[in-house]
Amino acid sequence: MSEYSVSTKFIDLEAQQKLIRQKLDFAISRVLDHGQYIMGPEVKEFENQLCEFTGAKHALTCANGTDALSLVLMAWGIGSGDAVFVPSFTYVATAEAPAQLTATPFFVDVCEDTFNIDPNSFKQAILDCRALGLNPAAVIPVDLFGQPADIDSIFEIANTEGIKVLVDGAQSFGATFKGRRVGAMGDATTTSFFPAKPLGCYGDGGAVFTSNDEDADIINSLRLHGKGLEKYDNVRIGLNSRLDTIQAAILIEKLKLFPEELLLRQKVAETYNYYLQDLYTVPVINSEKTSAWAQYTLVLSDRSKIQNALKSKGIPSVVYYPKSLTQQTGYKNFPAVSSGTHISDALSTKVLSLPMHPYLTSEEILKISEMLGEIYG
Ligand SMILES: Cc1ncc(COP(=O)(O)O)c(C=O)c1O
Repeated sequence: MSEYSVSTKFIDLEAQQKLIRQKLDFAISRVLDHGQYIMGPEVKEFENQLCEFTGAKHALTCANGTDALSLVLMAWGIGSGDAVFVPSFTYVATAEAPAQLTATPFFVDVCEDTFNIDPNSFKQAILDCRALGLNPAAVIPVDLFGQPADIDSIFEIANTEGIKVLVDGAQSFGATFKGRRVGAMGDATTTSFFPAKPLGCYGDGGAVFTSNDEDADIINSLRLHGKGLEKYDNVRIGLNSRLDTIQAAILIEKLKLFPEELLLRQKVAETYNYYLQDLYTVPVINSEKTSAWAQYTLVLSDRSKIQNALKSKGIPSVVYYPKSLTQQTGYKNFPAVSSGTHISDALSTKVLSLPMHPYLTSEEILKISEMLGEIYG
């Protein structure tokens, strides 16, 4: 075992917890004292804070980031015969939500440098979708690894075609595009509070952001079993999808640290860039964007050699994602853009994410970078 295995974690949740453990204990105790475990006061308080942080008019928390996607698609009435455009290089949940609703996930390619949905591929996919007799209903740009997708270009295409834009910000909470925070873009945005996400709780959690009052009302009803005005009045078919009060209480404490953590993540990424940019293909963040740095991901032609070498030194690294969605058994029969998803397929053989969290020290980054330098040489 090397010295690095002890100190270098891929994501270090313990370091953060140590900083706020006492506050977390108090916050959890308060929930145990008042006993409102479902939709207790902390849920509303956290939602208000989310609105303030993102600039969205409404923030509706729910059970996880996958349900958040489903709730929006359900509110928009998306289902059978509708196509929902999804990048082929993303986590499966982005395609799972439309597929569960019997809509058709329609796969689109991504850009080689940002890994986000390619507007030209999206344009072609709309034509292909119509040729197949499907209704182009929605597009889900994903802010992969923390960098917002090129939302203005996507919006421009979508708007002229009457297609709704749902931003999957599961990995990008805290990021910005042209000064706007993730949550304040698209027709709706979703995020995930899965523990490893930039803002994570100690279990599952998610949220929907929208500035549309009517959508917000419907999503609120949908997350509560399709509730009407009264408790046992059910006006639509919904889900049971709420953020636990204890998780909201934890997230309130974590949100206080979050702005500082975003700066620390940015610093980690800049330090990696400084050491690695002459040797490796490092992440490209467009000038009008900031990333939440959910991941710091290299593109490598000899990935397994480098991953094995890092492993032999006790440095963890992860491949997100080893298969594009068009290559997944459960999804390969859904349609894809006629120009192909070659970039998604190629990226899935080349990407490697390095340890990334706010508490990674300069010393650790230097050691990881030196090791990568030695492997390269
Ligand atoms: C891009 C993307 N979309 C959606 C999700 C789903 O979030 P959750 O795990 O909270 O359901 C994730 C989570 O990993 C994700 O990375």
